[in-house]
Amino acid sequence: MAEFLLPANSRIKKGKHFPASGESTNIRRYAVYRYDPDAGENPRVDTYDVDMDHCGPMVLDALIKIKNEIDPTLTFRRSCREGICGSCAMNIDGGNTLACTVAADSIKGDVKVYPLPHMPVVKDLVPDLTNFYAQYASIKPWLQSRTPAPPDRERLQSKEDQELINEPAACILCACCSAGCPSYWWNSDRYLGPAVLLAAYRWLVDSRDDATGERLDYLEDPFRLYRCHTIMNCTQTCPKGLNPAQAIAETKKMLAERRY
Ligand code: SF4
Ligand code: SF4
Ligand code: FES
Repeated sequence: MAEFLLPANSRIKKGKHFPASGESTNIRRYAVYRYDPDAGENPRVDTYDVDMDHCGPMVLDALIKIKNEIDPTLTFRRSCREGICGSCAMNIDGGNTLACTVAADSIKGDVKVYPLPHMPVVKDLVPDLTNFYAQYASIKPWLQSRTPAPPDRERLQSKEDQELINEPAACILCACCSAGCPSYWWNSDRYLGPAVLLAAYRWLVDSRDDATGERLDYLEDPFRLYRCHTIMNCTQTCPKGLNPAQAIAETKKMLAERRY
């Protein structure tokens, strides 16, 4: 099997190699980013040869096999293995995606696995999402209604109104889009990024919500919203097929036409 190579100018160094044991002929090599900030060492890439005859088909299956059978120090997040929880978001073969929904067979050559880019790393493949969640909380992602709920039933919506929130409400907050947005890379302290702006849009278009004016006031800011330059990386990378860029454009339109 060809040796895994890093670019000559990379500051990430080659780490340990874990060869396959046994006789299998169906081996895939996984090149995995390793970094422990507490160890005071530079990041490295370890390579693992995985027997795919005794492994599930997804990249997450291979990571779990590596952790269980080859190297228990490898650290990553996962929960549902169904593309629902968003916790296994990482950079695989150069794209931000969910490890549990990517088949190893869909990747040519070594399977390169890195954490989501441009985020601080807690350890190995685990990004620090503290800022991301604080930004999410800042848009008050809950219903704000000035009228009391009916005592005997839920707040009803028309089918058309409900369809407006269908897509933005399907976001699983995996952060793939925000970690793929160049504007967010450079301004994540002040720009909210596509995931949080999609969540904000979800409440802007909810017919049951009465805080549209306050929500728009919060977003009307040169950084929070207007750092989006419609580069579209977010929509391209979303593993759920959502369109944050369009939601951001609609939000800008609401502000331009605002009557609240
Ligand atoms: S469209 Fe906006 S939010 Fe999406 S990647 Fe581009 S700049 Fe970022
Ligand atoms: S819009 Fe897509 S990529 Fe962004 S957080 Fe939601 S599900 Fe993830
Ligand atoms: S483990 Fe939940 S989305 Fe992958």
